Amino acid sequence: MTGTPSNRSAGRPGDDRERVLEASDIVRVIGEHLRLKGQGREFVGLCPFHDDHKPSMRVSPAKQIFKCFSCGAGGDVFSFIQKYHKMDFREALEFLAERAGIELTKFKPATPSNPDLPAGPTKQDLYGAATFATEFFQAILRHPQHGEAARAVVARRGISPAMIERFRIGAAPDRWDGLILALQAKDLDVRAFADAGLVKRRENSEGHYDALRHRLIFPIQDQIGRVIAFGGRKIRDEDEPKYLNSPETRLFNKSATLFALHQASRAIQAEKRAIVTEGYTDAIACHQAGFEFAVATLGTALTPEHGRVLRRLCDTVVLVFDGDEAGQRAADRAVAVFLAEAIDVKIATLNRYTDAKDPDELLKREGGAEVFRQALDGAIDLLDFRFARLREKLRGAGLSALNRAVLDEIAAFKDMGLDRVEPLRKKLIEKRLAQLAGVPESTIREIVGAGRRAPMSGQAEASVEAKPQDFARTWPNELIGCLLVDGALVDRVPTVDRDLLTPAAMRSGGLATALAGVAIVIDELIRVGEEPDVHAVLAELAETNDTAGQAAASSLAYRVQEETSHEASKLLEYFQATLARAREQRGLAGAPGESAESALARMRQQHQQSPEGVVRPRLPRPPGG
Ligand code: UTP
Ligand code: MN
Repeated sequence: MTGTPSNRSAGRPGDDRERVLEASDIVRVIGEHLRLKGQGREFVGLCPFHDDHKPSMRVSPAKQIFKCFSCGAGGDVFSFIQKYHKMDFREALEFLAERAGIELTKFKPATPSNPDLPAGPTKQDLYGAATFATEFFQAILRHPQHGEAARAVVARRGISPAMIERFRIGAAPDRWDGLILALQAKDLDVRAFADAGLVKRRENSEGHYDALRHRLIFPIQDQIGRVIAFGGRKIRDEDEPKYLNSPETRLFNKSATLFALHQASRAIQAEKRAIVTEGYTDAIACHQAGFEFAVATLGTALTPEHGRVLRRLCDTVVLVFDGDEAGQRAADRAVAVFLAEAIDVKIATLNRYTDAKDPDELLKREGGAEVFRQALDGAIDLLDFRFARLREKLRGAGLSALNRAVLDEIAAFKDMGLDRVEPLRKKLIEKRLAQLAGVPESTIREIVGAGRRAPMSGQAEASVEAKPQDFARTWPNELIGCLLVDGALVDRVPTVDRDLLTPAAMRSGGLATALAGVAIVIDELIRVGEEPDVHAVLAELAETNDTAGQAAASSLAYRVQEETSHEASKLLEYFQATLARAREQRGLAGAPGESAESALARMRQQHQQSPEGVVRPRLPRPPGG
């Protein structure tokens, strides 16, 4: 679409519409914008013109028209393009003509520079300026002398010639008037370039100067491949800022634009998911490594506008973040996107898999693509991510602090827009929240349905605050109690003693009946590498509606916490004493006594264990619980 139109002879103006119509099959054109599925003789898809949740738009290849049965939008291929891209007819005609390689009858002369002209540049003029600049920057990158420094950067960073072409990468020369001289030589109107943010007016004298100087240039294109802005990366270390981006213009709305979307949109549809990275070079590196469904935000977090664009193409966005901290901040903002648009959001945090600082660095390494794929496949659903983080933050805190935090988290979801989500999706989200929080769905609905941060009824409080119960002081009951208070204690259990944590061993050691489900859940959590603290356990129990188990777990955790005075050192002592008791009882119960060899093996294993516990990958929960 970015190529130059072929030189077919131009006909009469009235023919243009017919010729373009003939060359623009509506199913193909619409299919380039959103996912269409064949259904009988027609195609259906999610209507982009209203908040559609099941495919209500039908496209007829025979009639070459589309129609939405929900909002009523409809028309031919021109109407679709006009409506989708907010173009007038002429713009849509030009767009489709270029797509099909048809040269149109000259409509109006190119804008010559004419200072007397009262009217300012049109949008079309801004597109023209951006295209001219793109080609100018591309020529500079190839220039023996002016492009030398930029080519060295390209070579050092390993950006392939194919990517240079695919992304139309260029270079701005190291001078104040490179672009200015080029546009003057062609007698072009400088005002269009000023409006496009490419040149700036001098403060103290006549004339303009280049906005982008001595930088590697990444043109930013819209979904259909028109250049609308530029990102320029510094070449010299001492220059600032690192990236200089075009200002917002009539063409460029930063928070709705995704870098590489044009190059990625087909792959996003095929893959049904989109990778969202943080940087230009990261998105390019993804494409170079074969991950063509990657885009980048432009130095901002993902916005609901981004979400709307992506939702038309796929079901899931995977946000890739370099470090935990960036990921967490972005995850906070992504909740608003997830609630505003019916799209699933997952978080892939690279530093769990590699020490590479971003996708670009990772993908340029030997075997990096494989690690990147693992990180993508291990991406954690946004809600799970938030709750895992909450548990982490509150590790070791009191149970009531935890309960409060969970309820606050749910109230935060409400504030971020959960109560405005359409009913079916809202129900699903509430269900998932209940599972994760370990509370009944009715509690969630009560919080979400209540006024803004309204105080909760006694019932909602009671559902998470269990009343004390008594449990016999058997070692399984006590061990479970300790683990619930601090799940990380699991790492203190030597490998040879792990068998003590199995439900079978616990049952024979005198486990309370009410804790049977709790023991099973703890065992499962340990096996998938999650810490079995009370919050994780409550969440799992909620999935099987084991309310007796929930009450028992909370109650036991309270007791142990009280008895260890909320102190980590006392808890550890208590835990180790209980563990010792369990070992003794295992001996008494007639379990195989320890031979000299196994004692040696045990000591070796204990030695190999790091004191802080080994780092275990966090596994995502099975989807939907
Ligand atoms: P990073 O600083 O992470 O850079 O900025 P990067 O993408 O890894 O780039 P290289 O590899 O150092 O060249 C991430 C994104 O934030 C925006 C840009 O969109 C960049 O791609 N950014 C960063 C700016 O807009 N301005 C800046 O000064 C820096
Ligand atoms: Mn980088």
